[in-house]
Amino acid sequence: PPLSRVLSLWDIEDIAHEVLSHKAWAYYSSAADEELTNDENARAFSRIFFHPRVLREVSNCDPSTTILGFKSSIPVFVSGAALARLGHPLGEANITRGASRAGIIQMVSSNASLSYAQIAEARLTPDQPLFFQLYKHRDDKIAEQRVREVIALGYNAIFLTVDAIVAGNRERDVRAPFELEEQEREGSEDDVQGDRSEKNEADLLGTAGALVANDDLDMTWERTIPWLRSITKLPIVIKGLQSVEDAVLAAEAGVDGILLSNHGGRQLEYSLPCIDVLYRLRKQRPDVFDKLEVYIDGGIRRGTDVLKALCLGAKAVGLGRPFLYAQSAYGEDGVVKIVDILQREIVRGMRLLGASKVQELVPEMVEQVNWQPL
Ligand code: FNR
Repeated sequence: PPLSRVLSLWDIEDIAHEVLSHKAWAYYSSAADEELTNDENARAFSRIFFHPRVLREVSNCDPSTTILGFKSSIPVFVSGAALARLGHPLGEANITRGASRAGIIQMVSSNASLSYAQIAEARLTPDQPLFFQLYKHRDDKIAEQRVREVIALGYNAIFLTVDAIVAGNRERDVRAPFELEEQEREGSEDDVQGDRSEKNEADLLGTAGALVANDDLDMTWERTIPWLRSITKLPIVIKGLQSVEDAVLAAEAGVDGILLSNHGGRQLEYSLPCIDVLYRLRKQRPDVFDKLEVYIDGGIRRGTDVLKALCLGAKAVGLGRPFLYAQSAYGEDGVVKIVDILQREIVRGMRLLGASKVQELVPEMVEQVNWQPL
């Protein structure tokens, strides 16, 4: 369908499902075990309701903000997700150009399918900010080289991912190559079962497992954060933090931000939805929000989801799959379209909530509701 018929981020997901290869859909959409945390990431937003304020001036409504000091047209960034070229030949560059046109910031995955230099070159202007998502190699020297490479290329912040030291169990992703083989063999007499047992161990890891095979399982607060700080003066954000306790440690460690995230439900099944972790942090340790910027990602698909996070003190939110889906189906125009949809939803929501700028979104405007029978 033409882009003009795409009304919501859910539409983009449906269209991507149709156009993506079986393997790409399995890799992009899958999550750990029963995929319950992934489903719940989105559903958790439906347990939070608004207390809107009325009779306020909202004709001039500005949804822009800054993230680590960099301007963003809406409080949304692209969370780094691997292998954009599985969905479209131009891959990550679609997101770079789309983000530039839409005025938002892209976080580039360590496992991008274009080189970090090619992505930097895809920028439409030399001052377009780019964030880098770091998977730390277990060899400090190799990890350091990777960081130095992106610093030299002009990347503007490092998001250290800490929730994926081993790959989550994504069975749809692991199964995809076998299913492909079975389809190709349909009608033949070959014993598929026999072939399957000959698959080597790498295949059983799925795409995800192969990508993080060299990661450092022994990262610690004491060693890894000072190590990264000694290499770069760029802002450091910890991505994949999931508890109030660790948020407090992050503030003590002096990092610039934390991204509360369960990796889109792809890692530890039964991790709490990110909005619930944010809710707890806001309630238990509001002081943390004064010491660093707090972001969330996972299951954010509507402008109201973004507004709920901002009311609870998030500076911005990240989206992963929607950007992969959009660039797969429509290239860079799809990326621009998603931001356009979110922008309209955010501005409409702010006006109906009685907020004309993001600073006016406050905790008093939201409430977590436990449905009780009367
Ligand atoms: C990811 N994510 C991810 N995170 C990261 O730190 N490094 C990576 O390379 C990847 N790769 C990746 C691939 C794919 C296909 C997905 C779906 C996700 C996690 C990503 O940054 C983000 O946390 C989630 O995607 C957010 O959830 P939603 O928006 O996809 O629901």
